[in-house]
Amino acid sequence: MTDITIIGSGNMARGIGTRAVAAGRSLQILDRDPAKAEALAGELGAGVTSGAAESVPAGDIVVLALPYDAAREVVTRFGAALAGKTVIDITNPVDFTTFDSLVVAPGTSAAEEIAALAAPGVNVVKAFNTTFAGTLVAGSVAGLPLDVFIASDSEEAAAAVASFVTDAGLRPIVVGPLRRARELEGFQFLAMTLQVNPAFESFNWNTGLKVLV
Ligand SMILES: NC(=O)c1ccc[n+]([C@@H]2O[C@H](COP(=O)([O-])OP(=O)(O)OC[C@H]3O[C@@H](n4cnc5c(N)ncnc54)[C@H](OP(=O)(O)O)[C@@H]3O)[C@@H](O)[C@H]2O)c1
Repeated sequence: MTDITIIGSGNMARGIGTRAVAAGRSLQILDRDPAKAEALAGELGAGVTSGAAESVPAGDIVVLALPYDAAREVVTRFGAALAGKTVIDITNPVDFTTFDSLVVAPGTSAAEEIAALAAPGVNVVKAFNTTFAGTLVAGSVAGLPLDVFIASDSEEAAAAVASFVTDAGLRPIVVGPLRRARELEGFQFLAMTLQVNPAFESFNWNTGLKVLV
């Protein structure tokens, strides 16, 4: 039995994988290049397994650590093989040709588009799109644990992700149904533009979005 599968072996796979190991979760890394998956698994810890992206994910939670288009393709390809699993969409569907808008239309979100492609019984959760990869490796910004905003139409799936986030030493904030992903994606798009804004010299993909009380 495996708790979490991460598809992709890039920056976010490393960040979320680091937190999964810290949480004591069993972890599998899949990648279109199995050698890259194996390398990241070896880096993350002795018990972490790896394989090719064609393999059906073993984890109860499946993290799509992929660009938006690739995440769509993977959910479509696996179809009913993901039924009963919690699938986390972490994407920020930014139009990188202009860096001035999202590629999803107003009134929807990447998460909702991915959910529309998923087979019945797949529980899509938006999470981790507002946490930069490097901050996930550290688990904190400015000495404070990261907030992880979670949106889903499945209370059970949102709770499963919140439990993982808590055990990983972060603070889960369940914000509501999957359509709240629209705000989470817009929110993070704004945060991304600030990283490249010369007015904020110290912002270098090292900031965090946090609710303080
Ligand atoms: N980086 C951040 O701080 C951050 C924060 C929040 C959310 N996100 C979101 O997280 C996702 C991953 O970002 P990242 O920074 O981890 O990117 P990354 O470092 O470039 O890693 C992307 C991974 O996806 C794989 N991939 C790319 N195109 C693919 C395709 N067509 N089919 C299958 N696999 C493919 C890559 O494989 P190869 O190595 O073979 O190309 C790589 O393993 C994106 O949707 C991004 O918007 C990123």
